[in-house]
Amino acid sequence: MRTIRAGVLYEPNQPIRVEEVQLDDPQAGEVMVKIAAGGVCRSDLHAINGEWRMPLPMVLGHEAAGVVEAVGPGVTRVKPGDRVILNFSPNCGVCRYCVSGKPHLCETTRKYPLGVLPGGGTRLSKDGQPIYHFARTASMAEYTVVHESGAVPIPADVSMEMAALVGCSVTTGIGAVINTAGVEPGSTVAVIGCGGVGLNIIQGARLANASQIIAVDISEPKLEMARRFGATDDVDASEADPVQRIREMTGGGVDYAFEALGTGATVTTAFDCLRPGGTAVIAGTATAVSGNVAQKQHAKANVAQQQQAAQQAAAQTQTDVEQMQQQLAALQMQQAQATITPVAPAAPAPAAGGDLITQLKQLADLKAAGILNDAEFEAAKAQLLGG
Ligand SMILES: NC(=O)c1ccc[n+]([C@@H]2O[C@H](COP(=O)([O-])OP(=O)(O)OC[C@H]3O[C@@H](n4cnc5c(N)ncnc54)[C@H](O)[C@@H]3O)[C@@H](O)[C@H]2O)c1
Ligand SMILES: [Zn+2]
Ligand SMILES: [Zn+2]
Repeated sequence: MRTIRAGVLYEPNQPIRVEEVQLDDPQAGEVMVKIAAGGVCRSDLHAINGEWRMPLPMVLGHEAAGVVEAVGPGVTRVKPGDRVILNFSPNCGVCRYCVSGKPHLCETTRKYPLGVLPGGGTRLSKDGQPIYHFARTASMAEYTVVHESGAVPIPADVSMEMAALVGCSVTTGIGAVINTAGVEPGSTVAVIGCGGVGLNIIQGARLANASQIIAVDISEPKLEMARRFGATDDVDASEADPVQRIREMTGGGVDYAFEALGTGATVTTAFDCLRPGGTAVIAGTATAVSGNVAQKQHAKANVAQQQQAAQQAAAQTQTDVEQMQQQLAALQMQQAQATITPVAPAAPAPAAGGDLITQLKQLADLKAAGILNDAEFEAAKAQLLGG
């Protein structure tokens, strides 16, 4: 057991208290992670303002990355020193959801109530009283203990700040588009709420080659950012009725609408701006959202529209994280190529008795990755060959 500092919520609508609490050593199948970076997601805010009721007191935070400090007995997936992203959907790997590619719905994990680790119980306490773990991660702390599937290894070259965001908003947003909705190329998409999740839904829609991506927000800076992330159009919902504007822009409604705020009103907008047969994906989470989704589905059933509500849009497995890192790397590469004038790196000097073939191969790899263009590749090759 060790004493750590953590952010604890004791009551809704009260400030989080940063104080010392006790953290147990990892049990079998668990790992202790030293937190290096973390984001603040609206899910934390839903817990703070009571929109999402949680067992309290609780250490908040779930969007984070860090380094494995220690592992419990039987852990095979990670070892001390590994850099990891925390995963708030730990999974058993063998239940029917896990083996059918939906580990975020793992039924083994779901047997345990919110706030405790898979297997039961909390590893956090203060003066002998249990403190609950938000989203099974409790990352607003110096250290945390998670199930081993809740710590996904990442490559050495990903910054901790970037990795932390992949822990929730990136995976949720891109997962909602690619895994939950399965947006087809050429589709029209509306994104209602362009914060951490919404901006990544926009990135996901770009990856899916959507033809029109309409960003909806009430904040002008967010709409500007949405444009930078790939939105083709935007609607300021504080000035115009988003349903009417989206219908005008698309000639009748979008193929896919994504809700990324977590209010009844924006869930309504997501359903109402669809074309007949369109799909609404609800990434927002709050107690109020659930009832609203059920109501809207019931109402729409009468007009023969097909909608789908996915409140768990995220899919967080190692494979997902790896795929998304590659996809984001491809996006970043495109952006970098558009905005940065590439400078040809000096060709590596042949080491004594150096392997020229290996160095030529490295150059070819740089060219294949788009880092060197044809002319730069030829110049570097000539330099390497002494030309
Ligand atoms: N399903 C999941 O696994 C999952 C994961 C992460 C977050 N979430 C949920 O997704 C939601 C969004 O989270 P976030 O961290 O991106 O939130 P955020 O606070 O970063 O973003 C919300 C955005 O909505 C905008 N907004 C406010 N009022 C609006 C209105 N009337 N119309 C349009 N836009 C409006 C805000 O300006 C802001 O840009 C939350 O409900 C969160 O709990 C779900
Ligand atoms: Zn989150
Ligand atoms: Zn499972």
